[in-house]
Amino acid sequence: MVSNAPSTNDSLVGKRIVLGVCGGISAYKAIEVCRRLVDAGAHVVPIMTKSAERFVGKVTFSALASEPVHTSMWDDWGGPIPHTKLGQEADLILVCPATARVIGSYASGISDDLLTNSLIATKAPVIVCPAMHTEMWEHPAVSDNIAVLRRRGVHIVEPEAGRLAGGDIGHGRLAEPSTVIESARRVLGGSAAADSGTVELPDMTGLRVVVTAGGTREPIDPIRFVGNRSTGKQGYAFAEIAARAGAQVDLITTVAIPVPSGVNAVAVTTAAEMHQATSERATGADIVVMAAAVADFRPIDPPDHKIKKRNGVPIIEFERTVDILADLGSRKPAHQQLVGFAAETDELIANAAAKLESKGADFIVANDVSAAGVGFGHDTNAVTVLARDGSRDSLALASKHDIARAVLTTVMAARSTTS
Ligand code: CTP
Repeated sequence: MVSNAPSTNDSLVGKRIVLGVCGGISAYKAIEVCRRLVDAGAHVVPIMTKSAERFVGKVTFSALASEPVHTSMWDDWGGPIPHTKLGQEADLILVCPATARVIGSYASGISDDLLTNSLIATKAPVIVCPAMHTEMWEHPAVSDNIAVLRRRGVHIVEPEAGRLAGGDIGHGRLAEPSTVIESARRVLGGSAAADSGTVELPDMTGLRVVVTAGGTREPIDPIRFVGNRSTGKQGYAFAEIAARAGAQVDLITTVAIPVPSGVNAVAVTTAAEMHQATSERATGADIVVMAAAVADFRPIDPPDHKIKKRNGVPIIEFERTVDILADLGSRKPAHQQLVGFAAETDELIANAAAKLESKGADFIVANDVSAAGVGFGHDTNAVTVLARDGSRDSLALASKHDIARAVLTTVMAARSTTS
């Protein structure tokens, strides 16, 4: 027998999710989103705007959701503050689909209906899933409003390209329900929840950012490799925060964890592959963050067949790999900020300062990987940021997202003083 019971490991279980539905042809997809959230064990509280009611019926949502649809601030809910209650009680607000009007109101702090009131009254994370015609999506007013929301920590599920209302083809179609649900899952349980969002993001609109993440693997033979303990979490946090701040982000990664929305991931395995992928993209980049743990040595000429133990203990000879950070530092364009890391177990600051100098970086983010909760595999980090101008900034133990947020704020401040 197959059980339909929600998985207890699912971050959606028991969460109170306000589903804000705006008026648009894609409102029909919100019905599927509602059903899947409820099936996963979430408590779904639907709010429909006036124009949403023109596209889909209240009865449909009321039948599928965990409670009847709310449409007005003026309904008698038996309490004194109905216009803020839904937002205050929510674990997450998901606006799906989000129209240009609601995006604009939310960005400007205008609260003229129940949904916008709830958005402004909440301290819960918010996901906005825009859907509109291509011309509207590309209008500078909408782009600016989206950039404002991203900087405030709102999660944007990018619209997709495809068939739009009226048969036009273009960018602006609501993301698929599965993408929306995954985003909710990630925000409630995963990495994004670790981002406290307390510091407003710098405006990185239009900047090109390259981030490397994970540990490289150097083959010994087709079966075995030399690797390291890096999980890629810090690099992914940088990529996610930069994308949310409006940057165009390329993430060169050795790990297969979900790619943050709006980030272009390039999969690599070895130091040589990472070198090539990073060099190609770094030339035009405004900021490069080398968060990856790159192997310093690799086996010379690994055989293309498995090394058999019957032939005795092998002697494996190693050769140096290219130091990618040092290579980028030696031919860095004037406008570029180059950020390296230093994973150390002793003499943190002295070793990091030497790396800043020898690798030609603008910043070195130094972490003592032997300290509790710091470095490989943890969701937290504690770092000292050393800058080329001699300044040093110590960031106490915080989520890797908050570390990324703070480092990028420092890098952006340096950009504004040098440009
Ligand atoms: N790095 C790199 N290419 C390498 C090795 C390291 O680009 N082949 C980068 C890392 O991504 C990081 C920085 O250099 O940003 C420092 O890496 P780390 O492992 O701390 O130091 P190493 O340069 O390898 O020096 P050591 O092993 O002596 O500490």
